[in-house]
Amino acid sequence: MVSNRLNIVLPLAAAVLVISALAVTVTADYVRPPPRKTLHFPWVSRPSSQPQQVHVSLAGNKHIRVTWITSDSSSPSLVEYGTSPGKYNFRGHGDTTSYSYLFYSSGTIHHTVIGPLEDDTVYFYRCGGQGPELKFKTPPSEFPVTLAVAGDLGQTGWTQSTLEHIDLCQYDLHLLPGDLSYADYIQNRWDTFGELVQPLASARPWMVTQGNHEKESIPFFKEGFESFNARWKMPYEESGSTSNLYYSFEVAGVHVVMLGSYTDYDETSDQYNWLKADLSTVDRKRTPWLLALFHVPWYNSNSAHQGEGDNMMEAMEPLLHAAGVDIVFAGHVHAYERSKRVYNGKSDPCGAVHVTIGDGGNKEGLAHKYKEPSPEWSVFREASFGHGELKIVNSTHAFWSWHRNDDDEPVRSDEVWITSLMSSGCVAEERKEAREILWSP
Ligand SMILES: *[C@@H]1O[C@H](CO)[C@@H](O)[C@H](O)[C@H]1NC(C)=O
Ligand SMILES: [Fe+2]
Repeated sequence: MVSNRLNIVLPLAAAVLVISALAVTVTADYVRPPPRKTLHFPWVSRPSSQPQQVHVSLAGNKHIRVTWITSDSSSPSLVEYGTSPGKYNFRGHGDTTSYSYLFYSSGTIHHTVIGPLEDDTVYFYRCGGQGPELKFKTPPSEFPVTLAVAGDLGQTGWTQSTLEHIDLCQYDLHLLPGDLSYADYIQNRWDTFGELVQPLASARPWMVTQGNHEKESIPFFKEGFESFNARWKMPYEESGSTSNLYYSFEVAGVHVVMLGSYTDYDETSDQYNWLKADLSTVDRKRTPWLLALFHVPWYNSNSAHQGEGDNMMEAMEPLLHAAGVDIVFAGHVHAYERSKRVYNGKSDPCGAVHVTIGDGGNKEGLAHKYKEPSPEWSVFREASFGHGELKIVNSTHAFWSWHRNDDDEPVRSDEVWITSLMSSGCVAEERKEAREILWSP
């Protein structure tokens, strides 16, 4: 408390200067606490067949993929489930994978797709024919739908605080724009991360895309993304992609494209061609909202990671703009920023709202330095840990809020109603030049 008070004076003076210099962008004067230490888990030894690190993700229409790890390789990839506790009327079988990395060998990683499932329904389940009963809720098939968003999570005391706050909100699905465990080559940190997030990730689908911390490549030896792909398998096959590093899915009336900042994106790349094909099949009557996630932001006025997204932006922004992407979520920069609707560096009524939300709580701490003056497109920026909630109310309105971890309380700090591009005639079907970009051979 005392040190907090002492710390207030200087930053406050700085903040007053900053605020008076910026007519439009809000830069808050909240005094940021320092990074917190990596959590250390009391590793309880368990029977080797006991399921660990359970998480669920969407796996195509009305299906969920359940993923867990066992120390032994002989326990079955069986998920038993049903809509009342202890009564498992349904069963699903899956398959397993594993990987080795230097001196580390992973446990057996089980992936089991179950369904068809009812919408907006709580299922009770257990993995491997034993272990504790868990439950998840499937997303609704119609609006409203609420998406929690937090990137660059890591596994520190701040991560825990962010997760606790997300747990307090009523949400249907978690979106993670890259940088999960911050294992950084130390593979058992993937395991501790899996344990840390299990209470949330086993209860709501987690949809993730990769960041730089997932790469873990070693020249001539490891290509990269080996642990990420083995542990966090996403529905890429279900969305016509050939790589776990980019895919799309639908939830309620929302089409979400998950892109890879660390795989090829130029106009001749597989990812580009897949994205173009995927966007050209979006039916805005069925999914009026269109979102995109990737790790490295395109609109970023923080000094950290300046310009790193430029090449991908140059290649792919015309496609996203043509398709009428409503909102883009990125991470990487450990701070929060929200833009106006922008395209090609300028305000544009048919552009996307870009949100940088790489402030989940990792060990590297916050990115405090901003470019001055603030660019015209930047509406709100603040270097604090926190999470976001996107409540899509209906086909035209969504309420976005960003909740900062104010010490340990979640404080709603930024909020805005966003109206869909569908409601302002900006979707591809209604614009000739957009049709030409998306549907040209
Ligand atoms: C959508 O929700 C907004 C905000 O609650 C409301 O003002 C609007 O009338 C709703 N639109 C429709 C078509 O229901
Ligand atoms: Fe990153």
